[in-house]
Amino acid sequence: MTVGTDSPAQARSAEPHAQEPPGEEPAPDARDQAGPAGFAGVLPDDLPDGLVVADETGRVVTFNTAASRITAVPGDKALGLPLDQALPLEDLKGRRWWALTDPYGGLATRRGQPERNLLLPGGREVLVSARYIREHPTGPVRRVVICLRGTEARRRTERSHAELIATVAHELRSPLTSVKGFTATLLTKWERFNDDQKRLMLETVDADAGRIKRLIAELLDISRIDSGRLEVRRQPVDIAAAIGRHVHVHTTGGQSPDRFFVRIMPGLPALWADPDKIDQILGNLLENAVRHGEGTVTIEVAPARKCADGEEGTEVTVSDEGPGIPEESMSRVFTRFWRGSKRGGTGLGLYIVKGVVEAHGGTITVGRAPRGGAEFRFMLPVGTPAHLA
Ligand SMILES: Nc1ncnc2c1ncn2[C@@H]1O[C@H](COP(=O)(O)OP(=O)(O)OP(=O)(O)O)[C@@H](O)[C@H]1O
Ligand SMILES: [Mg+2]
Repeated sequence: MTVGTDSPAQARSAEPHAQEPPGEEPAPDARDQAGPAGFAGVLPDDLPDGLVVADETGRVVTFNTAASRITAVPGDKALGLPLDQALPLEDLKGRRWWALTDPYGGLATRRGQPERNLLLPGGREVLVSARYIREHPTGPVRRVVICLRGTEARRRTERSHAELIATVAHELRSPLTSVKGFTATLLTKWERFNDDQKRLMLETVDADAGRIKRLIAELLDISRIDSGRLEVRRQPVDIAAAIGRHVHVHTTGGQSPDRFFVRIMPGLPALWADPDKIDQILGNLLENAVRHGEGTVTIEVAPARKCADGEEGTEVTVSDEGPGIPEESMSRVFTRFWRGSKRGGTGLGLYIVKGVVEAHGGTITVGRAPRGGAEFRFMLPVGTPAHLA
């Protein structure tokens, strides 16, 4: 721990760091910066986490503001108390933690305690880790340095995971209920239906099974995006041709060709991107414009010059003449499972689009189209592979 203080009450925590165990010495330049006011002027109270330090007799010599906030014990009450009184921690089975771990006794090779979830009086949870500082590798403990961290942030992440699982289960359940219902009915009452009725039921089963398959593929994409494992296999992409293909899919699917207006500006730079993922972006944005928007869908491709670090790129704008996205919802369209209207699907499309654009080093924004609808604009940098750059 390279934190000290120059306040008189806590002066003993500002000892030099000669007792660091071998192999864990701070880098020489870091040590040069550690003056009497602590590492680069950082004081214990500056730390975001709770910091408690006890001296070789087990009495508290440092108790920073964050530690007071987490434990609800004022610093001046804690200073000078034995560790087990200043921090009466218990493990989840209700055993007194300091008696259990005995930092000053026990094996002389122990260096500390890994992070653990412990309880404060009143049952409040706190994450605690400790380090035992010895003068020699197996010598007596000179200081015990304890870090305390509130559990709210972790609880919040856990809650958001639990919510995700609940939403996913819910999304999967309705198509699966229909698949199960129709197949069960067909199996038990096969004779009672005519061919047309059977066909209709099988078509529903087929469509619902397709929905489940798509949903699972999207969830896999989401998990790759969230864990930063989305792979981008770059190759030269003709984005104008890709747009043409997507428009063609919609017009052969029954949309009037008048619904689409494509404008390709001259002077486009090269584009190295993952063609399948470009299809995913265009597919989602065009489907949204057709499904959630109205009127003409305008797709514009233009060179972009204001990319991050001045790199050139391609900018694509997809806009429509529908109701658009209300101003207050614009910040939420790219979050997962957000859908604005009853016509909405699962609400994963734009989350994936954003993840894919960003995996290419690009950016995406949403705004209002000149004629009132939604306008999505994404930029992709040229992305020349390193061996060709
Ligand atoms: N062009 C648009 N015009 C109006 N609203 C839009 C448009 N595009 C998206 N939205 C709104 O944003 C919401 C989220 O879009 P997103 O593509 O993420 O999900 P979805 O289309 O509902 O479902 P999914 O794409 O997963 O099938 C939509 O439900 C819709 O309310
Ligand atoms: Mg969508």
